[in-house]
Amino acid sequence: MAAIDEKRGLADNRGIPWYGKLPTDIKHYHAEVDGGVILMGYGTYVELSKPLPGRNLVASGKAEQLRPGFELVADAREFLKNTQDNVWVFGGAGLFASTFDLVTDLRLTQLEGDFHCTKFFPEFHRMFILTSQSESITENGITFRFETWQRRP
Ligand SMILES: NC(=O)c1ccc[n+]([C@@H]2O[C@H](COP(=O)([O-])OP(=O)(O)OC[C@H]3O[C@@H](n4cnc5c(N)ncnc54)[C@H](OP(=O)(O)O)[C@@H]3O)[C@@H](O)[C@H]2O)c1
Repeated sequence: MAAIDEKRGLADNRGIPWYGKLPTDIKHYHAEVDGGVILMGYGTYVELSKPLPGRNLVASGKAEQLRPGFELVADAREFLKNTQDNVWVFGGAGLFASTFDLVTDLRLTQLEGDFHCTKFFPEFHRMFILTSQSESITENGITFRFETWQRRP
């Protein structure tokens, strides 16, 4: 699951450029994840002030201790290969890059425009098929839509 701009940008060096500007995206996120299991990279964990609803797993080969409400996963690939749960890979760029071949479905918030990001979502167009998309929505001057993609057989 990710929100990306036209260049597949996820974030710049200060964080997510559209952070706090897309309330409908936040609602959509909560409806999709619905208190399930999310797996985030350590870089994303550092930016979160508190856990998100649901089970918050943090991938890190280095971290020893995390704040309350977060659980450590030392090897995200092994975890994803062995879990019986439906896990939402939540990003950021480093975690997406290291686990992308294990992902079966994408839930993307596709933003119009280039937000000059420095961290990017993996190239996916050739490997996945667009299976549904919402109407465009504009909030705070930003136009976006929700898309579902499935890995090609
Ligand atoms: N637009 C969006 O939808 C979206 C979503 C999420 C995050 N973001 C943004 O993305 C940015 C963070 O991205 P990032 O690339 O800097 O960091 P990141 O992907 O959140 O975290 C990278 C770290 O995760 C750990 N990691 C990655 N793959 C692993 C694996 N296979 N097994 C174990 N640990 C693994 C490593 O931690 P160690 O070095 O500790 O081993 C790695 O340094 C933030 O600004 C965040 O806000 C954007």
